[in-house]
Amino acid sequence: MPHDPQPPSFSTLTDVRLVPIDIEHAEAVQRLAEDPRVAAMTNLPEPYPPDGALHWIRYLLPKRQVGVEYAFAILEAGGEVVGVNGLVEVSAAQGFAELGYWIGRPYWGRGYATAANRLLLDYSFEALALRRIIARPLLRNHASRRVLEKLGFRFVETQRNPFAKFEPDDRLAVYEMTAERWTAA
Ligand SMILES: CC(C)(COP(=O)(O)OP(=O)(O)OC[C@H]1O[C@@H](n2cnc3c(N)ncnc32)[C@H](O)[C@@H]1OP(=O)(O)O)[C@@H](O)C(=O)NCCC(=O)NCCS
Repeated sequence: MPHDPQPPSFSTLTDVRLVPIDIEHAEAVQRLAEDPRVAAMTNLPEPYPPDGALHWIRYLLPKRQVGVEYAFAILEAGGEVVGVNGLVEVSAAQGFAELGYWIGRPYWGRGYATAANRLLLDYSFEALALRRIIARPLLRNHASRRVLEKLGFRFVETQRNPFAKFEPDDRLAVYEMTAERWTAA
């Protein structure tokens, strides 16, 4: 599997571009991630530590080299970082990964998450040749679930939340997209 192929380019719907996240994005990621409304529905630590973005990006870079995690800065048309999306638990052997994403509070409601994830799905099924991608928002995260539904993900089941940050009965909604489903859409 190619470990770091060229990222996807502009979407035809909303002008966003994905670039592999790097140290140069740390300041913008830090500023956006510090907003507790972004962290509230994700695994981001709360409060977000002062060096959180830099620490995360440094952790991520070697993971990308070996093809187990990919993260992208989502840039709007003017080049500003508006959020982050990426793949974790990537298994080339199983053709599997889990999708994650967040958008900075000033940029919500403009279609950025949907457009950015569309690009990432193209990249995942074409460049990375994955076969199945899941996403697991909190059941009560209606905006995130709407993003997945707009993209054509299939709702699979609910699941007990395994993450320490939330209560076990704060259930997750499991969604999946397969390469066949994405191609057909
Ligand atoms: C969820 C999130 C990524 C959405 O980003 P975004 O760029 O605003 O998403 P989009 O504009 O592409 O689409 C959002 C959709 O959700 C809808 N929506 C927003 N709030 C909603 C709510 N409370 N209930 C139902 N739908 C809602 C919007 O109307 C829109 O749907 P529409 O196009 O049919 O009108 C963003 O709010 C975010 O980062 N939240 C905090 C972190 C997070 O939840 N990350 C995902 C973890 S799984």
